[in-house]
Amino acid sequence: TLCLGSLLTTALWIIVDNSHIVPSGPPSPKKTPPWPSDLCKGCSSQLRSQCQGFDRAIITQANTPVGSSIVYAAEKKKTLKVTPGIFSTFIKENPFPKKKWDTCAVVGNSGILTNSSCGEMIDSAQLVIRCNLPSLGKGYEKHVGTKTDIVTANPSIMLKEYGGLMGPRRPFVESLHSYGKSMMVLSPFSYAHTTPVCLRAVYSIRDFESPIQPMFFNPDYFQSLALFWRSRGLSTGLLSTGLVMVNIALEHCANVHLYGFWPFSNHPFELNAVKNHYYDDKKGKWGVHSMPAEFDLLLRLHSQGVLKLHLGNCR
Ligand code: CDP
Repeated sequence: TLCLGSLLTTALWIIVDNSHIVPSGPPSPKKTPPWPSDLCKGCSSQLRSQCQGFDRAIITQANTPVGSSIVYAAEKKKTLKVTPGIFSTFIKENPFPKKKWDTCAVVGNSGILTNSSCGEMIDSAQLVIRCNLPSLGKGYEKHVGTKTDIVTANPSIMLKEYGGLMGPRRPFVESLHSYGKSMMVLSPFSYAHTTPVCLRAVYSIRDFESPIQPMFFNPDYFQSLALFWRSRGLSTGLLSTGLVMVNIALEHCANVHLYGFWPFSNHPFELNAVKNHYYDDKKGKWGVHSMPAEFDLLLRLHSQGVLKLHLGNCR
């Protein structure tokens, strides 16, 4: 295991702080936040009491009845009235069990995972969370693993790669096979124009009887997370998917391990070029996120022992 020791953390902190490493997305205008010294003491219980991801991270038929209004996370002036049709796409009850998981792995998509040999370690976690329908298999197994319990799906993937699901839907549903019976969390209520494609994704999954379990993020949860971290110094518009999933893991897991979080273009130890994703080099649209500031937060949480950030190779 090459997770960071405190010495490396300090060294890395200096590197990041001095901006010698260039973000692999567009430069962020935001400066490194002045974190409070006890940034998140008892982080899990604070998150549980203030953000309640346990009950509120996912829209369910129990927490969002027909007739209620959903406010879009990134377009606060837009709302959606829940009709019986929309309601029927919600899962019935909260998908998270009451018990806490012991070890969880949250896998970001950074190219830092390339040749990392972290697959086995990732798969050994009780719960594995992945982001934005990443490529699995195809020779990536050794470095990123194959186990998936929760996977998020950004609507832009359905819009760009599957024609907005307006044509044949089988290719999309077949692409989900590599995630097995996992929970698939879509984000239909951040931007109004993405709602229809997310609903079509649920219809397609049901029509083809795919074993994956689709569900929707609750935009209220994004709001309370943003407030939670803003009050601790993180000034960012929308939190990245990866950071949202880290927060969910912090509430539900005794030990949270992060892999593939490195939004910079050079490797921290080997200094070679690092792609934005381990499976492609598409640049992130980071205008709405503040990736280096988010990474800075993760690094702080690592040094406070709240979570374990893995940046080196696993063997
Ligand atoms: O589309 P988005 O930028 O949210 O995510 P992605 O590129 O599919 O990657 C998933 C998550 O991994 C992001 O939300 C980030 O939290 C993290 N990530 C990172 O830390 N460094 C990268 N170079 C790429 C992604």
